[in-house]
Amino acid sequence: MKDLTLCAASAKSVIHCGAGAFNAFAPDLAKRQIYVVTDSNVFAIYRHLMWQTFGDNFPVTILPAGEGSKTYNNLIAILKDMLSAGMKRNCTVVAFGGGVIGDIAGLAASLYMRGVRLVQIPTTLLSQVDSSVGGKTAVDMGGVKNVIGTFYQPEEVIADPMFLKTLTDREIRCGLGEIIKYGALNSEIFAKLKANSARLTDLNFLEEITYDCIAHKARVVCEDERDLNGARKALNLGHTTGHALELFYRKKSHGEFVLIGMFYELYIAQKSGICGGQYAQELKKLILCVLKKIPVYENIEAAAAFAVYDKKNDDGRLSLIVPQSEGISAEIKLSLSDYTRLLKECAATL
Ligand code: NAD
Ligand code: GLY
Repeated sequence: MKDLTLCAASAKSVIHCGAGAFNAFAPDLAKRQIYVVTDSNVFAIYRHLMWQTFGDNFPVTILPAGEGSKTYNNLIAILKDMLSAGMKRNCTVVAFGGGVIGDIAGLAASLYMRGVRLVQIPTTLLSQVDSSVGGKTAVDMGGVKNVIGTFYQPEEVIADPMFLKTLTDREIRCGLGEIIKYGALNSEIFAKLKANSARLTDLNFLEEITYDCIAHKARVVCEDERDLNGARKALNLGHTTGHALELFYRKKSHGEFVLIGMFYELYIAQKSGICGGQYAQELKKLILCVLKKIPVYENIEAAAAFAVYDKKNDDGRLSLIVPQSEGISAEIKLSLSDYTRLLKECAATL
């Protein structure tokens, strides 16, 4: 187990990462006034662990599992319940679950009494490598992802690989989507992914690479906590297309759409002359190693239109963060019509 400290402009966040982190740090939370937010799947699997760790009488909101729970109504329900449970200003919100729980519980913690302490206990691979770190909180609204949110650093993140043992293969793939994104942004992570492509789902490998991804993200967030100077924007590689497809098709999970988005945006980068050669082939191979088949979308034109909601767009054109060369990404700006044409071209190659 290793600790990392993320020193953002607004606050410091300590990340305990690795096997044993939960048993070492979660029991201390029982000494505080805590409010737990979790989802129905996580509660079904880990309720005994929660009772054992926090006692059997802690206040809790259990949301239905899935992205559909990241709503304004659920946010208000959590806040109302915190108030009726008598949560004080020095209470701690414990986000016990995947990225959906981390995002909505983080937002509740940032709003309740103008901000209370927040501890993230991420239980999916995706939330361990990405969403629990860096302080972005959100709910979806009006069909737009993450449109209401705050920047609010967790005081602590407890990222323990023991939770990965109960994830489905599909959820592991979703986390690998974000891990490959880090591979496209960091040449050391890329080299490790290539060297271990036959054991990407091995728990020991995942523990090691999770630390690397968190360390990369922590450096970026220290430099650009509020996504202002471009450093943090790079963490959105593949996400413009991923989010557009996610909003339109909804059938898959966030991490799968990130992988599909990276595949399409790699094609766009190649066609724009930004990325090519052996590197482009290796990255494509890595994506296809995790997602064996890129789905063929009939109506990709309609899905592309959702890219206009992306928060990175600023001058009437779409902003895409695409892979360039090992460890380097680039931003390209495209009109919606050029973007749609390139997506259709890529889809025709499938
Ligand atoms: P999720 O929270 O919906 O979890 C995926 C599924 O796994 C759910 O069904 C959940 O119940 C189940 N699950 C969770 N932990 C489990 C465990 N240990 N064992 C068995 N099942 C378990 O989704 P996610 O993929 O973790 O996160 C996706 C969300 O994260 C999206 O809403 C996305 O927008 C957000 N996100 C946020 C950031 C950020 O910086 N804040 C970054 C990336 C993604
Ligand atoms: N997942 C993108 C970010 O945290 O900025």
